[in-house]
Amino acid sequence: MNIELRNIEFAYDKTPVLQNINGRIEPGQFVALVGPNGSGKSTLIKCINGILRVQKGEVLLDGNNLETYGSNRLSQKMAYVPQTEQKAVPMSVFDAVLIGRKPYIRFKPAKRDMEITADILERLNLASVAMRDVNKLSGGQQQRVFIARALAQEPEILLLDEPTANLDLKYQVDVLKLLGSLTRQGITVVMAMHDINLAAMYSRQVMMMKEGQLFASGGKEIFTAENVEKLYDVHVETIHKNGTVYIVPDRIHSI
Ligand SMILES: Nc1ncnc2c1ncn2[C@@H]1O[C@H](COP(=O)(O)OP(=O)(O)O)[C@@H](O)[C@H]1O
Ligand SMILES: [Mg+2]
Repeated sequence: MNIELRNIEFAYDKTPVLQNINGRIEPGQFVALVGPNGSGKSTLIKCINGILRVQKGEVLLDGNNLETYGSNRLSQKMAYVPQTEQKAVPMSVFDAVLIGRKPYIRFKPAKRDMEITADILERLNLASVAMRDVNKLSGGQQQRVFIARALAQEPEILLLDEPTANLDLKYQVDVLKLLGSLTRQGITVVMAMHDINLAAMYSRQVMMMKEGQLFASGGKEIFTAENVEKLYDVHVETIHKNGTVYIVPDRIHSI
């Protein structure tokens, strides 16, 4: 299912937070949403999933306005992993993931809901902790539980707000690899992210946000030193290695 953003505008109160956002995301695409703190990444993600209602413009899913989808139908199409998960009530990992089946359950979970939950736990290497309390897992495991819960919705689109924040490097790479494998199964992944080098390594489409506007968008070729300097207002230098360009803060200006 494709996503089209048409001239989106959003304000929490009077001051606009998002303005003139236009873009198109194809099925199975891996999109990195980057930009400084406060540039509107989280707000845009919440507009795409309907948590926030745009005041101007529209979000279209396969050409239909987001608002024409009922909440259950929307939850079957699109899942969201928020930036911060409040500590949940004590709950097993299994139950935490089963909650993702809610849009499909009328009265009580069916056999199929249990099977899908178990299957996802296995795929995400969570089977061995299925009966542990979610709150007692490591940060990396918890993050996988939240992704697992989102996958239990069997979504076509997965939105994630800084899914690798607070994770050590290995877990960051693990999560990004997992997301990459989902896109190869046709799931669209849109994630807000801070690490531009990891974003460049794993994503295929990039949306750079600055002060509530799309500063640049395109393939990862837009990760140029010039764009990154303007985006974050910092001096950078590039390192070329094995055909890949890495962007790091300029040492002379940074130390
Ligand atoms: N609930 C809210 N009420 C009022 N202003 C908000 C709220 N959430 C975010 N903002 C403001 O909207 C702007 C964009 O924030 P956000 O979308 O969280 O940016 P990012 O995710 O890129 O850091 C910021 O100026 C922020 O202060
Ligand atoms: Mg944010």
